[in-house]
Amino acid sequence: MEVRKVGVIGLGAMGAGIAQLCVEAGVDTVGREISDELGERARDRIGHFLTRKVEKGTLGQAERDAAVGRLALTTEVGDLADCDLVIEAIVEELAPKRELFAELDRLTRPEAVLATNTSALSVTEIAAAAERPQRVVGMHFFNPAPLMPLVEIVRAELTGDEAFETAFAFAERIGKTPIRCHDTPGFVVNRVLIPLLNDCVRVLDEARVSPEDLDQGMQGGAGWPMGPCTLLDLVGIDVHVHASEALFEKTRAPRMAPPPRLVAMKNAGLLGRKSGRGFYTYED
Ligand SMILES: NC(=O)c1ccc[n+]([C@@H]2O[C@H](COP(=O)([O-])OP(=O)(O)OC[C@H]3O[C@@H](n4cnc5c(N)ncnc54)[C@H](O)[C@@H]3O)[C@@H](O)[C@H]2O)c1
Repeated sequence: MEVRKVGVIGLGAMGAGIAQLCVEAGVDTVGREISDELGERARDRIGHFLTRKVEKGTLGQAERDAAVGRLALTTEVGDLADCDLVIEAIVEELAPKRELFAELDRLTRPEAVLATNTSALSVTEIAAAAERPQRVVGMHFFNPAPLMPLVEIVRAELTGDEAFETAFAFAERIGKTPIRCHDTPGFVVNRVLIPLLNDCVRVLDEARVSPEDLDQGMQGGAGWPMGPCTLLDLVGIDVHVHASEALFEKTRAPRMAPPPRLVAMKNAGLLGRKSGRGFYTYED
């Protein structure tokens, strides 16, 4: 199905980035937040990132202004009724997501595709809140969405081919590299990366290696573009611990459980870059 108009619900870290990708690709986009102020703040952030591209010479001023002009803001879900694709990026909690999908299912056209950006919840459980679960699909973007190429297109138990392929084609259209997978805990990348990063943290204590040396080890010996401690600081220790706990709850695999050292860091407010201190200390 051709997507002419997109709705993005929740314009936080992920939703604002997704909305930016849509308007840059020339797609009319409606962004829904819970207050006008949060919506305006997201539009300012998008405008700021696009201005930086103009300054770097990768985007023209007229294109930048046209892109920002394609983003309409609303606080009413009803304003998304004529969207062909709606991408949800609200809080990572099942109940509000299910409530939202039930509402979207009622008010959008039956052929519209409804996508969730959930990282750790079951797309199938979210889809089950809709009368027509065949049109619900996962579109799992990575943070920061405008820069990370991957989108996992997640097939839930009852996702139809039409919705799945529409989501896949749309991800390509906005310049991403989508991959196809089924709805399993952690999908593809987090299923591999989260236990791997947990192992790295356990090795810190077992081998009594410093974060600096572990990072050097994985970069120099395994070809990682950045070391695991640097990556965890960038992701946010709290975000990683939350995702680990969610995966552990679903799989009961010991490697998924967050190592005590990371839980202690989270409880102490050592969250990485965003708090100024994690495995490393950040001046800026
Ligand atoms: N942050 C990441 O690294 C990352 C990566 C991939 C996927 N995700 C997923 O994306 C989703 C959003 O995560 P985030 O990090 O952007 O969170 P965030 O807290 O930065 O943003 C969520 C936004 O949704 C808004 N919101 C809440 N309920 C709403 C509603 N009913 N209608 C409209 N807006 C609503 C909030 O006001 C907030 O601005 C989650 O499901 C998360 O698991 C996050």
